[in-house]
Amino acid sequence: LLFLLLMKTSSIIYGCMQFGRSWDNQPISIQDRKAAFDAIEAAIESGITAFDLADIYTLGKSETLMGSFIQQNPSFRSKIFIQTKAGIRLHQGILGSNIYDLSGDYLRSQVELSLDRLKTDYLDMFMLHRPDPLVQIQNLRETIESLMESGLIKSFGVSNMSFHQIEWLRSVIPIPIKANQVRFSLGHSLMLDDEVFFNRDRHSDNSSAGTLAHAAVESVELQAWSPLDKGLYLQAPDETDDAAVINTSLQLNKLAKKYDVSPATIQLAWILRLPYKIRPVIGTMKPDRIKEAAQADNVQLDRKDWYDLWISAKGERLP
Ligand SMILES: NC(=O)c1ccc[n+]([C@@H]2O[C@H](COP(=O)([O-])OP(=O)(O)OC[C@H]3O[C@@H](n4cnc5c(N)ncnc54)[C@H](OP(=O)(O)O)[C@@H]3O)[C@@H](O)[C@H]2O)c1
Repeated sequence: LLFLLLMKTSSIIYGCMQFGRSWDNQPISIQDRKAAFDAIEAAIESGITAFDLADIYTLGKSETLMGSFIQQNPSFRSKIFIQTKAGIRLHQGILGSNIYDLSGDYLRSQVELSLDRLKTDYLDMFMLHRPDPLVQIQNLRETIESLMESGLIKSFGVSNMSFHQIEWLRSVIPIPIKANQVRFSLGHSLMLDDEVFFNRDRHSDNSSAGTLAHAAVESVELQAWSPLDKGLYLQAPDETDDAAVINTSLQLNKLAKKYDVSPATIQLAWILRLPYKIRPVIGTMKPDRIKEAAQADNVQLDRKDWYDLWISAKGERLP
C-alpha cells in the first residue's frame, strides 16, 4: 500500500462521514472498524490520498476510526492528507436545530479534540464548517494564526461559504484560504447555473454567481460534497422519480457504455470536465465503488455528452 502512495494521486477526496455508521453513542464495533479500514485501503489503492472528516461526523466515531488506522499504520501519516472541520454544534438550538459557532476558544478546543481522536500531531487542513453570522473576525484571526504558528494545522479552508464571505475573511485574516467545500453535482449545479444564466429573468436568485470564477482567480480549491447526489441517478429509477431523474439516469448508463466505465464514474467525470479543477468528495464505503470513482480522472467527456447530462438533469432546454 505504501508503495501505491508514490503513484499519481487522484483528484478525488475520500469523505469519511459514514465511518462508524450511526450518529449516536453506540460503541464502534469490530465490523465498523473493518469497514472503515477496507474503505481507506481501497481509497489508497486507487490513488486517493486526501481524507475529509469533521468533528461532528458520527459524533466523533469517524475521526476515531481514521485515528485507529493512522495508529496502526504510522508510516502512512506523512503520505496522506487529512482535513477536518469544526463550527457546527449539533442539535444545540431550539427545535433540535444545529447552531454555528466560530468563536476562537471553541474552535481551538475542537481542533485539539480532533487531533486527539485522529492520533496525529497536525491537520493538513482545518476548515470552518459553515459561516457563523455572529463570528468575531479578529478573534477568529488570532485563533487561526495561533493554530498555524503552533503547527497544529498546516493550512486553512472553509466550507459552505459564498465568495463574499471568503473575501470578508481574507480582508482580515492574512492566511490563505486554501479550499471551499460546497455542495455541487449534476443534480445540484446552482453555482454553475447562476454563472451561466446570470441576468436571465427577474425571479432568478443568482446568489451563487461568481463562486466558480472567484475560486479560480483567487486559487481557492473547490471541493464538491455529495458529488453523486447520494446515488439519486445511480439506482434503478422507479415510477415515483420525475422525468429529469429518469432521463439523467438513462443518459449516465448510455455514456457509461460509450466510455466503458460505470455510471458513477461518468457522473464524477462531469464535475471534473469543468475548467475549475473541482475535487469531488465521495462518500460510499464500498471498496468497489471507491475504485470506480477513482477512474473518473481518466475520462474526458466530449462537449455534447457533458451538455446532454447537464440538460437532462435540469430537465429543460438551455436558452
Ligand atoms: N461540508 C459539508 O457541509 C458536507 C456535507 C455533506 C457531506 N460532506 C462530505 O462529503 C462526503 C460525501 O457526501 P455524500 O456521502 O453525501 O456523497 P455522495 O458520494 O454523493 O453519496 C454517497 C451515497 O451515494 C450512494 N451511492 C449509490 N450508488 C452509488 C454508486 N454507484 N457509487 C457511489 N455511491 C453510490 C452511496 O451508497 P453506498 O454507501 O451504499 O455505496 C452513499 O450512500 C461526506 O463523506 C463528507 O465527507 C460535507
